[in-house]
Amino acid sequence: KHVAVLMGGFSSERPVSLSSGEACARALEGEGYHVTRVDVDRNIATVLSNLKPDVAFNALHGPFGEDGTIQGVLEYLQIPYTHSGVLASALAMNKERAKVVTRAAGIPVAESKVVNRFAIGAKHPMKPPYVVKPVNEGSSFGVVIVKEDQSHAPQIISSPEWRYGEQVMVERYVHGRELTCAVMGDVALGVCEIIPTGHSFYDYDSKYVPGGSKHEVPAKISLNIYQKVQTLALAAHQAIGCRGVSRSDFRYDDRFSENGELIWLEVNTQPGMTPTSLVPDIASAAGHSFGELLRWLVEDASC
Ligand code: DAL
Ligand code: MG
Repeated sequence: KHVAVLMGGFSSERPVSLSSGEACARALEGEGYHVTRVDVDRNIATVLSNLKPDVAFNALHGPFGEDGTIQGVLEYLQIPYTHSGVLASALAMNKERAKVVTRAAGIPVAESKVVNRFAIGAKHPMKPPYVVKPVNEGSSFGVVIVKEDQSHAPQIISSPEWRYGEQVMVERYVHGRELTCAVMGDVALGVCEIIPTGHSFYDYDSKYVPGGSKHEVPAKISLNIYQKVQTLALAAHQAIGCRGVSRSDFRYDDRFSENGELIWLEVNTQPGMTPTSLVPDIASAAGHSFGELLRWLVEDASC
């Protein structure tokens, strides 16, 4: 099979995607596929109609790669592609709209609202602590945590340097441990706890600088919570209508009781596949090598 690995693109996550794409291209070659690396630009429809691959392996992240737009191009060209389709991708990419759907499916989410970034400058949009997130970014770009003792949100949000859109999501800050769960088809693969080393939260550097965080798979949590995370991740994957592999992120506050508070944050339809990424670690703990995981994705591709 001829597989075109789509990578790069023009979102803030371009470097992450180039890293995911190269790792995937190499592993797919190892699996015996004929691989073409495609750095995605505005000419992608022409490039793909000339290339005529059997499958497009989507290794893009962020706007234009994870939000249903490239998926629409691939549908149009009738090229089978990996991961989620148009609707699920578009829904999952918008953190606020995704929560409307998962909340309706009974999945616990944190209260939030979407506001214009200039409305956050002078007065708090909700009682701190809260988190300001771009509505559709990944890799923690533009994530700002506003603590209890801050009199106002950081100026960066209303400054001309802000590159993440006018509308931002303001979400109640959920204290606690960072858990994530990979879903492959109709199976939850396992739960990982992310333990940042020397960072206040799982930010860009702790995601991609080797040693920037520790992945504990399986997470050391009670069996009850472990199963609950897996059930909720699968429910989110299905409610949003994801295909292939997805990864749901959670916060778990066990300061006051072991049952604690478990909150679903988001589903990533194009989870990172870099050498420091979570899904490859979770899959490997579940007995699937990186190559096997990618082979499964390629064979699962459709349009
Ligand atoms: N947005 C990054 C790639 C992730 O979710 O892993
Ligand atoms: Mg994300």
